[in-house]
Amino acid sequence: MDWTRWRAEFPILERSTYLNSCSLGALSHRAMARIATFHEQWHSYGASAWYELWLGAIEELRGRVARMLGADASDVALTASTSVALATIASAIDYSRRPKVVIAELDFPTLGYQWMVRDDVEVVRVRSDDGATIDPARFAEAVDDRTAILATSHVFFTTGAIQPLRALADIAHAHGALFLVDAYQSVGQVPVDVRDVDADVFITGPLKWLMGGPGLAYLYVRHELIRQLRPRIAGWFSAKDLFACDITRFDFKDDARRFELGTPALPTVHAALGGQEIVDEIGVPAIRERNAQLTERLIERVGDAGFRVRCAQSAADRSAIVMIAHDNPGGAVARLASDGIIVDWRPGYVRVSPHFYNTEAEIDRVVDVLAGGTRDAR
Ligand SMILES: Cc1ncc(COP(=O)(O)O)c(C=O)c1O
Repeated sequence: MDWTRWRAEFPILERSTYLNSCSLGALSHRAMARIATFHEQWHSYGASAWYELWLGAIEELRGRVARMLGADASDVALTASTSVALATIASAIDYSRRPKVVIAELDFPTLGYQWMVRDDVEVVRVRSDDGATIDPARFAEAVDDRTAILATSHVFFTTGAIQPLRALADIAHAHGALFLVDAYQSVGQVPVDVRDVDADVFITGPLKWLMGGPGLAYLYVRHELIRQLRPRIAGWFSAKDLFACDITRFDFKDDARRFELGTPALPTVHAALGGQEIVDEIGVPAIRERNAQLTERLIERVGDAGFRVRCAQSAADRSAIVMIAHDNPGGAVARLASDGIIVDWRPGYVRVSPHFYNTEAEIDRVVDVLAGGTRDAR
């Protein structure tokens, strides 16, 4: 694969050394073309674009996402955000006999917040022994027959560590608990098949590794579970016949669209289709391989330069999110930005996240500038 060929798709790469894909994937010409088409259709068709074109675009996106995840399209809902998807699922669970929800201390906060606001739920946070990963045995200690759901990340947003989903699913299911995955930081960079990993609920979105921008999330629910889950929040898009517009009765749709609430963000649907087309064309396994080359080079070079990296011990458990320990990460990120290098930081760490469109020279450059040199290798 000639990876440099892809760089022309992403204008930001001409202007900067962009190494912050775990915050926001780069915008492509294809995504921009899809958005431009959407605007043109809006001008030309007005509201009839809904029926003639845009419902089709929504279904194209749902179908592409489902194929990438190894799911049926009817088991995938488009929601407004991960938080909305989580809140919808959290509202559909009966906690009376199972009041416990088990999460990990390294999970993205919105995962915990869904249950922390409920007074019928006790949230248990599983601790990390090394600050980067969580041993599945720690989850096994925390999950019991009072657990309603084990909810955790596929890839941790601060450490990039990849969790062994199948092992976690088995722990949850052995106790009759549901298994929910926040895969916002994995899909697009780490291959996944939702059926192989035996997930009950699997949530991701286009913002980061799928290069589709903000405004949507994707919610997969295991087929047999869909009809058993009756959310306590609803909207006309959840209704069996949304165009009946009958305010006197409400029936949920039978498929995953019951978890959708209202009008989706159509600009994002189009941007996401542009990014998704690229991901589908390359294939996630190839992206994973390329990202691993860049990531391992970064970890090695930055280690040689004397920095400590917080990551999983084994390369197989690492993804393209690299946390580099730093006394003044905010200052370092500002200095890198003044050299045209865009990365991010979290307390105590500079966070660097390459994607397939980056180059080895860019990896070397971020290490050089971080270490005090300013070699221009672009
Ligand atoms: C692991 C993870 N989950 C979820 C989100 C985003 O949540 P939402 O879609 O509700 O904004 C992020 C964003 O940074 C994330 O890293």
